[in-house]
Amino acid sequence: MYSTPKTPGAREDARPYEPEKNPSLRRLTAGAIKRRKGKTTFPIATAYDAPFGQFVEASGIDVILVGDSLGNVVLGYDETTPVTMEQMIHHSQAVARGTSRAHVIVDMPFGSYQVSDEDAVRSAIRLVKEGGACSVKLEGGRDQAARIRAITGAGIPVVGHIGVTPQTAGLGPGFKIRSNRERLFDDARAVEQAGAYAIVLEVVDHELAGEITTELSIPTIGIGAGVKCDSQVLVLHDILGMYPHSPSFAKRYAELGDAATLALRTFAEDVRERRFPS
Ligand code: KIV
Repeated sequence: MYSTPKTPGAREDARPYEPEKNPSLRRLTAGAIKRRKGKTTFPIATAYDAPFGQFVEASGIDVILVGDSLGNVVLGYDETTPVTMEQMIHHSQAVARGTSRAHVIVDMPFGSYQVSDEDAVRSAIRLVKEGGACSVKLEGGRDQAARIRAITGAGIPVVGHIGVTPQTAGLGPGFKIRSNRERLFDDARAVEQAGAYAIVLEVVDHELAGEITTELSIPTIGIGAGVKCDSQVLVLHDILGMYPHSPSFAKRYAELGDAATLALRTFAEDVRERRFPS
């Protein structure tokens, strides 16, 4: 597919993926991610298709989230709730095909785990078997502890997600920063005790996020939650400047949207002026 140049920050131990020659070469496991707690701060980026999955992996980032932000940044919805299981499977398959070593976390879309534990386990199994997920992520704290327990009980590693939970943001204070200490600690502890191997803290008061990071024995993955988290995740389209409505906490490291428009405009002018084909 695409060439994968060695880039600054790429893992020193990156080796070619040749499982037939060395069976120990396989995707990073949830257990290995959990063991990073307290040892290293690690980046996570989202991806939604094969080429960008490959670009993320080539950058040395070895944990990829196929987020249901898919709905906003790729499918053109205003929110994540319309995203379906079929769409998540379709896009996570592509990311799995475009990568070979990264751990691929796949979001459970709204409606795929709310009804019952059985439903949640069935959906998680589909994301693993059909979508190529290494682990799944679902939103909610205490209220979703039973679901997390059921899915991990079925042998599928789970990432929790508390603070701002976009699938149900309309029910509460929306996307405002979360700072209710008791609620956040209760949710974080419940997610850990239910068996999650990591937890996303989205738009959480930075000091509280630091305290939760100290308290928990699983890695915290921050997004808009300050520098004290064990890991930081950003949406690919924000990192690369491909989405017009980046949140204020995101950092745009490129403006690929502008670059794409310029390239297309130049192509269009070349055609109109008969400069292409030359
Ligand atoms: O859907 C997503 O991309 C996410 C991240 C924002 C954490 O859940």
